[in-house]
Amino acid sequence: MSEPAIHTSGLVKVFGDTRAVDGLDLSVPAGAVYGVLGPNGAGKTTAVRMLATLLRPDGGEATVFGHDVVREADAVRSRVSLTGQYASVDEEMTGSENLVLLARLLGHRKPAARERAAELLEAFGLTEAAGRQVKTYSGGMRRRIDIAASILNTPDLLFLDEPTTGLDPRSRNQVWDIVRVVVAHGTTVLLTTQYLEEADRLAQRIAVIDHGRVIAEGTPGELKSSVGSGSVHVRLRDASARPEAARLLAETLDTPVHLEADPVALTARVTGAGDESAQAARALGRLAEAGIVVDDFSLGQPSLDEVFLALTDHPATPEEAAA
Ligand SMILES: Nc1ncnc2c1ncn2[C@@H]1O[C@H](COP(=O)(O)OP(=O)(O)OP(=O)(O)O)[C@@H](O)[C@H]1O
Ligand SMILES: [Mg+2]
Repeated sequence: MSEPAIHTSGLVKVFGDTRAVDGLDLSVPAGAVYGVLGPNGAGKTTAVRMLATLLRPDGGEATVFGHDVVREADAVRSRVSLTGQYASVDEEMTGSENLVLLARLLGHRKPAARERAAELLEAFGLTEAAGRQVKTYSGGMRRRIDIAASILNTPDLLFLDEPTTGLDPRSRNQVWDIVRVVVAHGTTVLLTTQYLEEADRLAQRIAVIDHGRVIAEGTPGELKSSVGSGSVHVRLRDASARPEAARLLAETLDTPVHLEADPVALTARVTGAGDESAQAARALGRLAEAGIVVDDFSLGQPSLDEVFLALTDHPATPEEAAA
């Protein structure tokens, strides 16, 4: 095995009474996308900032390509890049001006800087918008120019901290394509996300973190099989039919049914190996037979909430636990 891109052992960061990162053990292999999945406040950004040498750990150890993040911070910095931090894009300047300027700051001569900027704008689908001020960009375009700026010099390790939060599905797909391109060029990517689907699509391995610790780690397949491979989401026409619908689903799928906050919605994990769609179809059939009108029915991946329920017996967000 080659040297891991990141290794942490018992990493700790405390803010006042909050143990934001509380004994984090991670081993991130080089050359792939590693997903760090966790809800709001799990400690993702704090961990990334320590690994990128922007924040000093209060305990434990972390190395990046074998270099200690505290004692050898310069060596770490020369090999990593973090979107939106090192590469700060100026909103008043155009996309092209930003990339050319940053490339020159990184030491490229003018023609090389222009060439690299044009290459990235093209690769990221921003050629048409290249001459526009960044402040006129959509959220998705903004995220793409941020990533472009952070890979002007191909880093060995790129931190992407929730690169798609708040983006629409199309922009999210564009960012995913870009991440794949970056990895194909040999960069290791540490991606934090609140979406299991995103980690599943992009990452070769995933760590689920909660309260600053790893609570599960493995390939997406391993993680999903520990959680249930799929999940049926049902929306009823009429909230009064929900108790009966819940009973039928629990019986057909032989699994607990989760009543959502939305009074017409219910969710159930499908645990049957390989025949999720057959099970889901059977469940839908039972509802129809009982005369329950279903407005929406889908079989999808478990949500982060469901992953958390399965792994921890508590929902992802403290607010929900209190509700
Ligand atoms: N500078 C700070 N001062 C005080 N508390 C902080 C600071 N930064 C983070 N925290 C706290 O540490 C905990 C972890 O925060 P962090 O930002 O690392 O979580 P996160 O997983 O990135 O969450 P999100 O998904 O919302 O970005 C939270 O309880 C947060 O309020
Ligand atoms: Mg964060």
